[in-house]
Amino acid sequence: MTYHFNSALKTYRITSELPEGPTSTTNEGGYICERLVLSDNILMEASELYSNHYGFWICEDIGRGTQREGARVKLSPRRLLEGYLFNDDYFITHVHHRVSGILMGYAFGLTAPDPTSPPASGKKIAWITQLVVHDEYRSQGIAGRLIGCAMLAIQNISVFGIISSHPWAVLALMRVAGIPTPDLDLDFISQHGAACLRAVGVPYATEDMLVGSAFGKPCLDDRSDAPNLVSLALTNFHVEHGWCSRIIEFEKKRGWPLGDLPEAHEFFVVVRKAEKR
Ligand SMILES: CC(C)(COP(=O)(O)OP(=O)(O)OC[C@H]1O[C@@H](n2cnc3c(N)ncnc32)[C@H](O)[C@@H]1OP(=O)(O)O)[C@@H](O)C(=O)NCCC(=O)NCCS
Repeated sequence: MTYHFNSALKTYRITSELPEGPTSTTNEGGYICERLVLSDNILMEASELYSNHYGFWICEDIGRGTQREGARVKLSPRRLLEGYLFNDDYFITHVHHRVSGILMGYAFGLTAPDPTSPPASGKKIAWITQLVVHDEYRSQGIAGRLIGCAMLAIQNISVFGIISSHPWAVLALMRVAGIPTPDLDLDFISQHGAACLRAVGVPYATEDMLVGSAFGKPCLDDRSDAPNLVSLALTNFHVEHGWCSRIIEFEKKRGWPLGDLPEAHEFFVVVRKAEKR
């Protein structure tokens, strides 16, 4: 079975055929993980990919600059560097198209000592701060391979974390951690989520932004149709969620454990890597 994402319609379909033509995964070049080295080129390419393929603002003037409703969310190379590669132990994984050489996708992340393991264990948490795949190449496993590439390149990763509005970014992370969708350990998030945030020093989310049943704050209001909040960060990142909501509804049939996504929130996930059997 093949999942095929239609980027124009922002919908998915499931077929029994393999992807064909220019979107075939055979066009992927090698996956590269760079640590503590950053070329200007990759930062420029990442900025271009992000600015053309990430998403759209849904709100004017959110206090972060000069965004316009309906305009693409953009980030300059400098803001990418300052906002998403903010400690000394960062990594970037990327993959380029084998023929055209364009950047097909990238992941930015940071590592820090795993706050849930004894310090002498040398175990690490890997926090994904950015994960973007060119919209012509989505639903082919590229996001998963980008995170997997980091896991292979960096020894001793025991915990993964991400804040994202996109259910498939969350699922890509869970796949790499070896956790089936319905088995997300919400107790782990509840007990260690805040410590993981502090360990990595994520600048755009703090403990007081965490909401949902995992943090004893399950409701935004008393409406009977109030959304089911499980583990979220109120990041005030007002990006368009319409099609993410459709994906959430689809994933609910497959055991999606994180409930709904109100505006200005993102899913907050920390997950311990599954032990090898
Ligand atoms: C979110 C994003 C990075 C996913 O990239 P991707 O390469 O399409 O993701 P993958 O193909 O690796 O899929 C990851 C998981 O999502 C699910 N998924 C992906 N496409 C799917 C589809 N069409 N139908 C059903 N499930 C799908 C699967 O569970 C998949 O895991 P699996 O391959 O082990 O089954 C990409 O959609 C994107 O760049 N979106 C815009 C930016 C964004 O929102 N980034 C996240 C912020 S951190």
